[in-house]
Amino acid sequence: MAWKSIDRQTDPIPEDAGTILGTEARAKIRGFLDRYEDKRGALIPSLHVAQETAGHLSLQVMKEVAECLGINPSDVLDTTSFYTHFWTHARGKKVIVCCRSITCQMMGGDKVLEAIKKELGIDEHETTPDGKYSLITEECLAGCDHAPCMLINEKLHERVKPEDVPRILADPDNDKLDVPRSYLYDGVGPEEK
Ligand code: FES
Repeated sequence: MAWKSIDRQTDPIPEDAGTILGTEARAKIRGFLDRYEDKRGALIPSLHVAQETAGHLSLQVMKEVAECLGINPSDVLDTTSFYTHFWTHARGKKVIVCCRSITCQMMGGDKVLEAIKKELGIDEHETTPDGKYSLITEECLAGCDHAPCMLINEKLHERVKPEDVPRILADPDNDKLDVPRSYLYDGVGPEEK
């Protein structure tokens, strides 16, 4: 087997990458610093804001998050690569997260996953050619009493049957929520926005 060499001299971020996070996202990220004793404590909510703003966490976006928080880019990369919920490559407009934990499996979650794959023609961690949907599986989505469950973006769909899948995926509002998760990070209710 041939040795594989790694080029550590060339910056993996292209020179023309530009700045991706805008003023508003940067202010929001810096605003998290007051809430934590350690700068790295603010990393998870910051990554959610960055991903919501940029679509996915490219190396350039991770570098900008590190700059905003005053931490090492390697710390950002470590955290980003640990969690399946953070995407380092482009993803579809809507991300379907199918639960793969035991309660959902016992209630037919594997058949729901197969129905989604068949309906969209994609496998896990793939995106439909029109860029509309990406698909992943994750452990328990905290909806075991309504298993089997899946998320479309932040919206939880409960007691999903394989035959429901085409209808759910065809619904343009299948990811709409009354209170988006970003409100939770801001600590501000929708009525105060
Ligand atoms: S096991 Fe699927 S939501 Fe808990």
